[in-house]
Amino acid sequence: NQTKTLNEGTREQWGSRIAFILAAAGSAVGLGNIWRFPYVVGTNGGAAFVIVYLVIIFLIGYPMMITEMSLGQKTHKNAIGAFRSLAPNSPWWITGALGVLAGFVILSFYSVVAGWAMSYFFKTISGALGAGTDYVGTFVGHITNPVATVLWHAVFMVITLAVIAAGVVKGIERTVKILMPALFVLLLALVFRSMTLPGAGAGIAFYLTPDFSELSGQSILGAVGQAFFTLSLGMGCMITYGSYLSDKEEIADNAAWVVGLDTAIALMAGFAIFPAVFALGFDPASGAGLAFMTLPGVFAAMPGGTIFGAAFFLLLTVAALTSAISLLEVVVAWVVDEKGWDRKKASLIIGGLIFAVGIPATISMNEVDFQMFGMPFFDVLDIFQESILLPLGGLLTAVFAGHVYTAKKLKEDANKNRGKIFIGGWFDVLIKYLVPIGIAVVMVVGWYDVFFK
Ligand code: PHE
Ligand code: NA
Repeated sequence: NQTKTLNEGTREQWGSRIAFILAAAGSAVGLGNIWRFPYVVGTNGGAAFVIVYLVIIFLIGYPMMITEMSLGQKTHKNAIGAFRSLAPNSPWWITGALGVLAGFVILSFYSVVAGWAMSYFFKTISGALGAGTDYVGTFVGHITNPVATVLWHAVFMVITLAVIAAGVVKGIERTVKILMPALFVLLLALVFRSMTLPGAGAGIAFYLTPDFSELSGQSILGAVGQAFFTLSLGMGCMITYGSYLSDKEEIADNAAWVVGLDTAIALMAGFAIFPAVFALGFDPASGAGLAFMTLPGVFAAMPGGTIFGAAFFLLLTVAALTSAISLLEVVVAWVVDEKGWDRKKASLIIGGLIFAVGIPATISMNEVDFQMFGMPFFDVLDIFQESILLPLGGLLTAVFAGHVYTAKKLKEDANKNRGKIFIGGWFDVLIKYLVPIGIAVVMVVGWYDVFFK
């Protein structure tokens, strides 16, 4: 069980600053932005929720992004190795282990949802989702069909593990350099189509006119959970990507780019979806099915709907892929660094295991089988990551960075190459007090809601 010392000299490195920003933004921008963000906004009353979410991104998300990227760059280690090298002979490595576990758990069901998106891309093209289709029935029929969902899950996992097997530069970097600009163009086209539909104004109003009476404690929790998930924080993902960053790169500007791009794309997804949903008389509060049950109806009812519908599901697939590779990389980087595994072997075996865990998750959608604690296994995985793994990982990372490693040293590391943004005293206040206390409160209240209500 020898820990190899992999310093900057021997470790793979991003080819450029842009490559790092695209890879980290590729991780951040995913199903969380395009599928989850609009439906969470829709079920929480619209604009007021968006404002709370933006405040949380700024006060919690941004300092956490700086912290994780800086810990990665400083140590050039995977999620577990980073904690181990800064706090040897202490239990802090467990924080990284929770992250590796989270990568495993999240990817196993994330890939299932990505599989739905791939299948819906082909359904849209083939005309199977034309006007008059029973969209709810089609969706339920699809997700409860174990053969189709397991096959699409397999296809998606094979693509994901092939990218990771090819390595950081030849795999991840090459993929994000093509897919991220494509994603941006697709999304712009969808926003333009949606906002120019007759009657789009009502959706824009819903999205931009805050009504604070709609806000509850619950929705604030939802905003914190969404912030962690959407920014890929609290699980060592940005530590891992930061570990491939040259010592010459600065941190604060790069972190701002990634947070800014993720936020911009989530907001754009809202502009792509709400105007269309309102213009065509659908309900914005229809929940997790918004993308799969409401949008096909929206596309079928609008001119050029087949093209825009296919573009949407392609967008969802592409966004999911650049996030899925980062989830797999967290686990693979750990076995490659710490256990000395070959990258190709690691990608194949770990990708295969994650695929296997996803199988009961997708079959559990078929109500009778694979229940746990009275819930489908799919929901168990999602609730586990959302209410335990990510917030706990984020809390421990903030306490570690602020108080154990110390905010002072972290600032020195992150400020050593100066960009436009200087990490000043504001960072201490946020990372030492506001972030951990905020997460702790939200977690305890959230646990009460999830487990005792
Ligand atoms: N940020 C991704 C999304 O928004 C999900 C993700 C979470 C990816 C954690 C990596 C790590 O979909
Ligand atoms: Na995201």
